[in-house]
Amino acid sequence: DWTPENMVTEAIDSIRAQVGDRRVLCALSGGVDSAVAAALVQRAIGPQLTCVFVDHGLLRQGEAEQVKTDFVAVTGVDLVVADEKDRFLGALAGVSDPETKRKIIGAQFIRTFESQAREIAGDKGIDFLVQGTLYPDVVESGGGEGAANIKSHHNVGGLPEDLQFTLIEPLRQMFKDEVRAVGLQLGLPEEMVWRHPFPGPGLAIRIIGEVTEDRLDTLRQADAIARYELAAAKLERDIWQFPVVLLADVRSVGVQGDGRTYGHPIVLRPVTSDDAMTADWARLPYEVLEKISNRITNEVPEVNRVALDITSKPPGTIEWE
Ligand code: XMP
Repeated sequence: DWTPENMVTEAIDSIRAQVGDRRVLCALSGGVDSAVAAALVQRAIGPQLTCVFVDHGLLRQGEAEQVKTDFVAVTGVDLVVADEKDRFLGALAGVSDPETKRKIIGAQFIRTFESQAREIAGDKGIDFLVQGTLYPDVVESGGGEGAANIKSHHNVGGLPEDLQFTLIEPLRQMFKDEVRAVGLQLGLPEEMVWRHPFPGPGLAIRIIGEVTEDRLDTLRQADAIARYELAAAKLERDIWQFPVVLLADVRSVGVQGDGRTYGHPIVLRPVTSDDAMTADWARLPYEVLEKISNRITNEVPEVNRVALDITSKPPGTIEWE
C-alpha cells in the first residue's frame, strides 16, 4: 500500500535495476521536482550520480545556498556548481523583451550544462539523465516515452536536445503531494519541499524592463519580505504562487519624512490555482498585505509604492512577462 517509505523503496529498486553500474547526471534547478528526483537517485546509486547546478544569478534570496549547502548536506550528493552569474547578466544586458530574455537564458543554460556534462563525462561518457517529470506532465504531453521533451522548451531546467542520454524519471508515477511526501521522507528541508513553482528564467521575467544587478537586488529584497510574511502568516500552502514584480521602468512620486521620492513600484501577484492553466487572485488578509507593503516601502530603498494585482487568469497570466 501507498506510504512514502514504500514509494522510496520501490523507486530505489527500479533505479538500481535500470542503471546498473553506469553513470548518471542530473541538473538541479532549486525546484522540488529535480531535488526529490536527485535525492532518490542518490539513495539508489550514490557515487554514480553527479548533479549540476547552473547558478544563473536569477534565483530568489537564499535559494542558491539552499541547493549548494543544505541539499548537499542532507543528501551527500556530488554537486558541481557552475557560477555563471556574470555570463547570464552579460547576455541579458540591454534586453527588455520577455521572449528574448527567455531565449537568451534558455540558450545560455544549455550551453553551460552541456559543457559541464562533457567535462564530467570525460571519455567514459554519461549514460543517464535524471528528469523530475511528474505524472500530470506525462498525461498533459500525451503519455508517450520522452513526452517530457514537449515541455522542455518552456522549462530552462529541461533537456538539452542534442545530448544523447536515456532518461531516468523516478517521479513519473507521482502527483505533487506524493513528491512532497517522498521529499520529506528523504529528509529534504521543508522550505525546499514546499517551495512554490518558480519559472526557469527566474527573476529575469519579474523585472519589467532590462535586468541588471541592482534591479535584481531590489527585487530580491522585496520578494524575500513577501515570502517571509506569507510564511509567518502560515498562508504559504494556501496559495499557488506569489510572484513579486518590479516595474523597473516606471517611477512614481512619493513622500518619506520631509522628502519627496521618485521610486519604483512593486506589484504583488499572489494567486490561487490548481494547475497554472487558470488562476484567481488570492484574497490575502489585509493585515498580511499591509505588513508586506509597510516593510517593503520602509526597507527597500528604491521602492516607494506597492500595488496588488487583482486580475484573474484569463485574461491576465500569472507572470507579468
Ligand atoms: P503564466 O504566466 O503563463 O504562467 O500564467 C503559467 C505557469 O508557468 C510558469 N512560467 C514558466 N515556467 N519557464 C518556466 O519554467 C518559463 O519561461 C515560464 N513562464 C511562466 C509560471 O510561473 C506559472 O507557474
